[in-house]
Amino acid sequence: MMAEYVAVAGVGELKPAQMKRVEVAGRKLLLCNSEGRYFCVDEMCSHEDYSLYLGCIKDGKIKCSLHGSYFDLASGKPTCEPAEEPIRTYAVKIEAGQVWVLAG
Ligand code: FES
Repeated sequence: MMAEYVAVAGVGELKPAQMKRVEVAGRKLLLCNSEGRYFCVDEMCSHEDYSLYLGCIKDGKIKCSLHGSYFDLASGKPTCEPAEEPIRTYAVKIEAGQVWVLAG
C-alpha cells in the first residue's frame, strides 16, 4: 500500500509547546507544536520503552522525562545522553486547515 497523508489535527488545535497523541498506519506518534511549527515523531523514546508524551517540548526538541534525553524534532536525533538512537520522524504538511502526517 502506498503511504498517504492522514489528517490528524486542525491547524490551530495545538498551542506552541503542546503535543497530541495520534495513530497513523498503526503507529503511535506524537504531533508536536514547537514555536508554531508542527513536527511528528514516534511516541516512544529510543532509550527505553517510555512515552515522550510525558515529556515536554522546548526549542525545537522534545525531552524524555524518564532520563532527560532531548531529541531534535526535525531530525529525531538525540542531542544528549543517555539515548543514542534517533527516534523516527514523519513528514508533516499543512493543507486545507488541517495538519497531515505521512506514515507508511
Ligand atoms: S527512557 Fe527516555 S531517556 Fe531513558
